[in-house]
Amino acid sequence: MKLLIKNIKTLVQVEDEPKLKVLGDEMKKLNCVQNAWLAIEDDKIVGFGKMDDWEGISDWTNLTIIDASDKIVMPSYCDSHTHIVYAGSRETEFVDRISGLTYEQIFERGGGILNSAKKLQEASEEELIESALKRLNEIMRQGTGAVEIKSGYGLSTEAELKMLRVIKKLKSLTPLTIKATFLGAHAVPTEYKNDKRKYIDLLINEMMPKIAAEKLADYCDVFCEQNYFTKEETVEILTAAKKHGMTPKVHAEQLSNFGGVLAGVEVGAISVDHLEFVGDKEIEALKKSETMPTILPGAAFFLSLPLPPARKMIDAGLPVAVASDYNPGSSPSGNMNFMLSLCCVQYKMTPEEAINAATINSAYAMDLSKTHGSICVGKQANVFITKEIPSYGFIPYSFGSNLVETVILNGKVISGD
Ligand code: NIG
Ligand code: FE
Repeated sequence: MKLLIKNIKTLVQVEDEPKLKVLGDEMKKLNCVQNAWLAIEDDKIVGFGKMDDWEGISDWTNLTIIDASDKIVMPSYCDSHTHIVYAGSRETEFVDRISGLTYEQIFERGGGILNSAKKLQEASEEELIESALKRLNEIMRQGTGAVEIKSGYGLSTEAELKMLRVIKKLKSLTPLTIKATFLGAHAVPTEYKNDKRKYIDLLINEMMPKIAAEKLADYCDVFCEQNYFTKEETVEILTAAKKHGMTPKVHAEQLSNFGGVLAGVEVGAISVDHLEFVGDKEIEALKKSETMPTILPGAAFFLSLPLPPARKMIDAGLPVAVASDYNPGSSPSGNMNFMLSLCCVQYKMTPEEAINAATINSAYAMDLSKTHGSICVGKQANVFITKEIPSYGFIPYSFGSNLVETVILNGKVISGD
């Protein structure tokens, strides 16, 4: 199938030489073509250029043509951190926090992650698939084309495997590109409260071999935080995960400066995520690594946390990625357009930096930047066409709106008018 999008007002994030990520000052640049065309064949991008220079691609007949006059075309967002498979919701805890309880206090009473784990253990695979698909369809309509999904609300061998099998099934039920992460070390389940060692042994000796045997996870993640897992435990768990073929990721420095970034750098994590309490030591360590610092502005916003030093990290020459953290407790939204607005308004990132963070850098954070995250010949044809808007900066500016009109994933039009 051949698809030509013509008269594009601005074709955003184009590359001739594909990069794996963009760092520091480079993040301020966003290569664009004005008054452009984009050609797609089957599931790949096969060409792009200026309308003035359009000579056609030889023997291009029988094509579907979309006119994108006054509209912007962007590569689909990559959302490299979500917990989109879950049961129930936690708006009662939201009200508790409005009334003054902290996220930590709610967890200490058996709420938070433990609340979601109880609900998940009771849910069937079918129920989990149905509710996750609704959320996936929602983020797809909001411009996301690739998403990482974590386990971590199971917290038993059976329930963690159930979550990961659900994630595997979702891959065949949606055109979104999905990567799976094992997050058994999301919290210590109540029954192991007084014997965390035993739970860590269970993660390493029972869960990991089963997950590896069924090839259920690309990554392994740990919530490195006071009352959850220490830096040393994080290193131990992720070192074991690597032996089972899973690449490390870390929930790091969200509620305190607790060693998550240093643990991640030590084990060669592909990303360290959250970063509210990152300091100079962590920035220096990240500069010597290939690890992608990833901010999750939805969670910092929803929990009223201090903001991660995104501006400082970029100014220090680091790359920064942004993801939604879509989950029922700390970020019940996967809307990457809103994440862009938060990046700009709260973190003083420019629209160019925010778009780089949400496309090529978040693609890097899930090993997808060779195929996703930019408009480049040979890459996956995952793009969206906006409504009629004056410029790409209008997307973060219009916070709360969904300006995505037509979604194209794997070369197929998913929705449109
Ligand atoms: O990324 N911080 C740990 N994990 C999630 C929150 C999970 C939850 O509250 O259900 C996060 O914010
Ligand atoms: Fe998370």
